Amino acid sequence: MTNIAQKIQKSLVESFVFTNEIARILSLGFVGKRNIIVFGPGGHGKSAMVQKVIEDLGMAEETFFQFFGEGMDESRLFGGLNFKKLEEEKVLEYYPEKSFLNSRVAVFEELFDAPASVLLALKDVLTAKELRNGSQRFKMKTEVIICLTNKEPSEISDLGPATHALIERFPLQLNLKWKDYSAKSYLQMFEKVAHQFDGPVLNGFKAVLAEILAKATEEGNFVSPRTAVHAFQVCQTAAQIRGATQVEKQDLTDLRFLPGLEGLAETIQKDLNVAMERAEAEAKLVEAEEKLRRLTGELREASAPIKALQVAKKLMAFQDETAKLKVTDGLKDRRKAIRDSVGEKIAEAQARALENTRI
Ligand SMILES: Nc1ncnc2c1ncn2[C@@H]1O[C@H](COP(=O)(O)OP(=O)(O)O)[C@@H](O)[C@H]1O
Ligand SMILES: [Mg+2]
Repeated sequence: MTNIAQKIQKSLVESFVFTNEIARILSLGFVGKRNIIVFGPGGHGKSAMVQKVIEDLGMAEETFFQFFGEGMDESRLFGGLNFKKLEEEKVLEYYPEKSFLNSRVAVFEELFDAPASVLLALKDVLTAKELRNGSQRFKMKTEVIICLTNKEPSEISDLGPATHALIERFPLQLNLKWKDYSAKSYLQMFEKVAHQFDGPVLNGFKAVLAEILAKATEEGNFVSPRTAVHAFQVCQTAAQIRGATQVEKQDLTDLRFLPGLEGLAETIQKDLNVAMERAEAEAKLVEAEEKLRRLTGELREASAPIKALQVAKKLMAFQDETAKLKVTDGLKDRRKAIRDSVGEKIAEAQARALENTRI
């Protein structure tokens, strides 16, 4: 892998989860000098990831960040109007050396919110690779443009031939979203970002919070990764207000102030209890799965019959434990898998103990 691709990957993995695709497309863009569109729902780290990669590549100085929007116009795109020239010579010129045209890298935020005239002007410049404005000429130094937007390129493409042509100047496109918004995914993010925030620690409540957010999303109140991070920090602040160093159950009630979680106030106690039960059950299951792996390993190693017999005994004790293991509904399949597997392993251990005694 080239140095750049490696650096990009490392930079993203350090602070974010689910970064394979974005790392890949940024590598293709930077190494191949091709323009990129990263699109998708807000709050998925588009801006934060691109910003960090640029800093870690040491390219901050050479990067131009441009926010587009309804108020954007051509003169701003090209560095502003030269009023002096306009007044004195009555010619319309820009300051391209103060625009993205003078930077090796450009990041365009919400490009497609800009008026059509701006998109058209941009398309012309990207095509000519030069600003051509009457007698004013300025060669474009930009090697890669990264466009971040919550609009789908296919939708924008339908707006007209000019926008369609502009989008074609961005050959690399990625729809950035998570493959699912399960408790596991939110938890993975919390494990990754927890150390970035000072303040009270969440410990076991990371899993509880993840359960609550997954449930909200499942019920149609989508909780974006950004909101999830806010939720994490609200819990920390609630604990801080109490003067505590650890987040506890009562701190989660303030989640009701987050969009999509308002309803939590009424059902909070019930929801919290369910979430905590699930998180606890999940932790116990993980423990049991781990123990099964360990005992299976021991059985594999047991060459003498006496050893096989010993493992059989341990497995039987473990079978009693799994018989008593309580789990919530969604986790029953995993418990069944453990139980089935323990049964098989006991039979195997006993068979080996006997087989060897006969020899
Ligand atoms: N995959 C992720 N891993 C870790 N944190 C994330 C992730 N996605 C989003 N975040 C959090 O959400 C915040 C906001 O993301 P942001 O860059 O504003 O999203 P976007 O530009 O897609 O709207 C980030 O600063 C980060 O704290
Ligand atoms: Mg953004």
